[in-house]
Amino acid sequence: MELIFATHNQHKLEEVKQMLPQNIQFKSLTEINFHDEIEETGDTFKENARIKAQTIYQKTGVHVFADDSGLVIEGLNGAPGVYSARYAGTGKSEDNIAKVLEEMKGIENRKAYFIAVFCLILNGEEHFFEGRVNGTISTEILGADGFGYDPIFIPEGYTESFAQMTAEQKNSMSHRGRAVEQLNHYLTNINV
Ligand code: IMP
Repeated sequence: MELIFATHNQHKLEEVKQMLPQNIQFKSLTEINFHDEIEETGDTFKENARIKAQTIYQKTGVHVFADDSGLVIEGLNGAPGVYSARYAGTGKSEDNIAKVLEEMKGIENRKAYFIAVFCLILNGEEHFFEGRVNGTISTEILGADGFGYDPIFIPEGYTESFAQMTAEQKNSMSHRGRAVEQLNHYLTNINV
């Protein structure tokens, strides 16, 4: 089966690729030569995942899935949320992290979670899968691996940030890992 992952984010792509079964021919937007910007105009992760998946499905008619993900911080009333990728306005992870650390100064509640929502369009029908991981926001940058907010997110039950873990360790507990698990389970059950 050929499945398009509607993303240009190389980090997400690598993470998901590592976790999906080998019998699925997996293609990114770059590989299918789709370079248009897809505007994420939704107010929720689910809506944005649907927009991305539907945009590609309308263009290609091929099975496709898209993910929308982000960081939700309790002490910041849910920010950066659906604006995670563009929180500081520059699109640079280090600026987003600096903004979060600055805004968190003096806030005691550092609880947060990462969430990933997948929208799979298979034979024209939409299916949704969601994964979450709870944790806390560190007071400083910890580690250099991973991407996005990894250096300031410490998953529950651990003392290291996602950026201090191996890819396998992060995938085993991450929001995206959990959403992929459900996607895998679904694809295995319908015998694709
Ligand atoms: P999206 O491409 O709109 O889903 O953007 C999601 C944004 O959330 C990314 O650009 C990152 O800033 C952040 N994010 C999502 N998943 C992760 C993760 O696993 N680690 C770190 N940051 C993440």
